[in-house]
Amino acid sequence: MRVSTNWCLVVITSLAIARLEKVTKNDSEIFFKIYGMDIISNISNRFVKTLVVSKVKNKENVAKETTFTVVLPDKAFISEFVMEIGGKSYKAYVKEKEEAKQIYDEAVASGRSAGHVAVSTRNSNKFTVSVNIEPESKVIFFLTYEELLERKNDQYELIVNIHPGQIVKDLNVKVQINENRPLKFVKTPSLRSGNEISNNEDKLNPSSDIQIINSTTAVVKFNPDSEDQRQFAHHLGNKESDGLSGQFVVQYDVERDPYGGEVLLQDGYFVHFFAPSDLEPLPKHVLLVLDSSGSMGGREIVQLKDAVKSILNELREQDIISIIYFGSSVSVWDIAQEIRIPIREVHNFNYEEPFDQLNLPAPSTADNRTLIKAKRLIDSLRADGGTNMIGGLEAALYLVKIGQDHPNDKKCQPIIIFLTDGLPNIGIYSTESITDIVTRLNAANNKIPIFSLSFGEMADKQFLKKLSLKNQGFSRHIYKAADASLQIQEFYKQVSSPLLSNVTFKYNAEVKDVTKRTFPIYFKGSELVVTGRYDNLDSNINIVEPISCFDIGPKVLQPTVGKPVTSLERLWAYLTVRQLLDERELADNKKELTKKALDLALKYSFVTDITSLVVVKPNEITRISTEDAYNEGRLSRADFDSGKLLISL
Ligand SMILES: *[C@@H]1O[C@H](CO)[C@@H](O)[C@H](O)[C@H]1NC(C)=O
Ligand SMILES: *[C@@H]1O[C@H](CO)[C@@H](O)[C@H](O)[C@H]1NC(C)=O
Ligand SMILES: *[C@@H]1O[C@H](CO)[C@@H](O)[C@H](O)[C@H]1NC(C)=O
Ligand SMILES: *[C@@H]1O[C@H](CO)[C@@H](O)[C@H](O)[C@H]1NC(C)=O
Ligand SMILES: *[C@@H]1O[C@H](CO)[C@@H](O)[C@H](O)[C@H]1NC(C)=O
Repeated sequence: MRVSTNWCLVVITSLAIARLEKVTKNDSEIFFKIYGMDIISNISNRFVKTLVVSKVKNKENVAKETTFTVVLPDKAFISEFVMEIGGKSYKAYVKEKEEAKQIYDEAVASGRSAGHVAVSTRNSNKFTVSVNIEPESKVIFFLTYEELLERKNDQYELIVNIHPGQIVKDLNVKVQINENRPLKFVKTPSLRSGNEISNNEDKLNPSSDIQIINSTTAVVKFNPDSEDQRQFAHHLGNKESDGLSGQFVVQYDVERDPYGGEVLLQDGYFVHFFAPSDLEPLPKHVLLVLDSSGSMGGREIVQLKDAVKSILNELREQDIISIIYFGSSVSVWDIAQEIRIPIREVHNFNYEEPFDQLNLPAPSTADNRTLIKAKRLIDSLRADGGTNMIGGLEAALYLVKIGQDHPNDKKCQPIIIFLTDGLPNIGIYSTESITDIVTRLNAANNKIPIFSLSFGEMADKQFLKKLSLKNQGFSRHIYKAADASLQIQEFYKQVSSPLLSNVTFKYNAEVKDVTKRTFPIYFKGSELVVTGRYDNLDSNINIVEPISCFDIGPKVLQPTVGKPVTSLERLWAYLTVRQLLDERELADNKKELTKKALDLALKYSFVTDITSLVVVKPNEITRISTEDAYNEGRLSRADFDSGKLLISL
């Protein structure tokens, strides 16, 4: 048998390798017609599998290169990619990153490279692949990715990114929801550009078709025709000929057990969804870390003041507050006395340092008098000086520690809220080092959640995202739009009500390979998820022990037990790999965690930071034997043996 000599290798990794510029084109410049696009998402037990199918035709009478691009949700893993060219399917396969790179490098070295490589630019993972298509012929791309939906503000939110880059005659989005608990509601809010929180403009109402099949099942369809796509493009601020470029969003929630949540188990896998609602919020210690550097001048400082005031307005009297701000130097306000206390910098980042010898002011109770004073202080803030970010964050961590160490203090859940434009230039410049140092200090500090709010066009959103993710929080960017204060409120709503702290899940059955079981904090409206395996099919998983170590004392909550709607194996694999990768980032010795994550990612075919996707497709219609290809070192023995690369033309 003969196959093509010219192998085109496409290695797709989840790292940024190439940045693709957006190409704006008019009708006469579109060589490729996307004549159909289907996006199908199946949700079961909050776990989603999405298939994107793009059908492309080369309109020209010469061979042309076409590009298929999909913007993936942040935490999704690609699990399958297939190209159908000339009626034949070419399936990509997941390889260890180095091995994939080697295959790719060898192809490049022997002058056979033609594959285009890229994933990821800024906020989202961007998957891109380019291939040559013969004149007047077609190619169909199939991309599958998987993710677990996170519950925020009392709902799950599925985001479907749509970016075909042109008007598509036949565009279909279908979302199937299949849960084991009754659905409380299913909604499709306004389409989003992806940058801003929806302002619910009527013009962007997707007018989707929501069918409630029965109490636990629903199907949502969105099929905008060419004219709809033009209108949406227009209202989203894009060129009409570029077609719809935005996010279709489906929101839903399920009815649930108000206390211990529910455990679903089947075939040796279990998942525990925990989202109690009937609890009083814990008292909290809010630490605001404010960037008052010169670069915050102008609109940013105004937005920052608004943000802080709206956070202050939401505090309860049981809460306490500390305000830290930094320009070139770092200060803490003694709110009661309305004075500034400058903080000496600590250079060796060591918790054992006698930092508490400084006369740091105690946090203030969030009563009305304090809040009035705090607002006055905020109004007096001027944008000035450099950006001593590490100093500000460190000071906050020390203040938390002093508060916690003090035996007589009322115990409160600390929450750090960090507001900045994200460009450090005093103390430590490297955002990576700042992330590392803060994460390390915070690990010694029982992991206080750090939430970041960024302002301004210059903000390094990636940095803040990473900083917060590594410290049990999340980040938000505040856009200059009219809805800035709405954006801030939306952010604060998610963190304003801690209900439990130090939640530990304990199972009395013989469980193993269980994901993270301890969570420093549980916020109202969110959900904690634990998944694992169990040996004995008869065993009952029936004890959960979320413990609140503050005022109320330990609490034990009992979950209900049920059956999932589909197998839980991939959900388990997904969450396990995700958490292994997170742990790996923090670990000093990454070897064992890498191996564990790699084994699972390969087994379940997840494209991650440590695996890549390799596609091999014929480039030219010249034929050689596969044996030759193997001997020339272009294929690994495994590839050869698996027969995946035997493409006969
Ligand atoms: C569209 O593209 C063609 C060919 O490149 C060009 O001649 C024409 O000016 C373009 N039209 C617009 C409106 O940009
Ligand atoms: C979604 O589920 C339907 C049946 O419930 C199945 O036919 C289809 O293949 C599934 N699609 C994906 C992308 O998993
Ligand atoms: C709802 O419909 C789905 C799919 O048709 C089915 O699997 C499920 O058992 C039904 N649930 C109820 C409560 O009727
Ligand atoms: C604080 O102010 C709020 C709203 O202005 C008011 O409802 C509340 O009674 C005040 N509390 C005290 C203790 O003055
Ligand atoms: C959290 O709870 C565990 C026991 O479940 C306990 O060992 C640990 O010290 C607690 N951590 C904190 C910060 O209270």
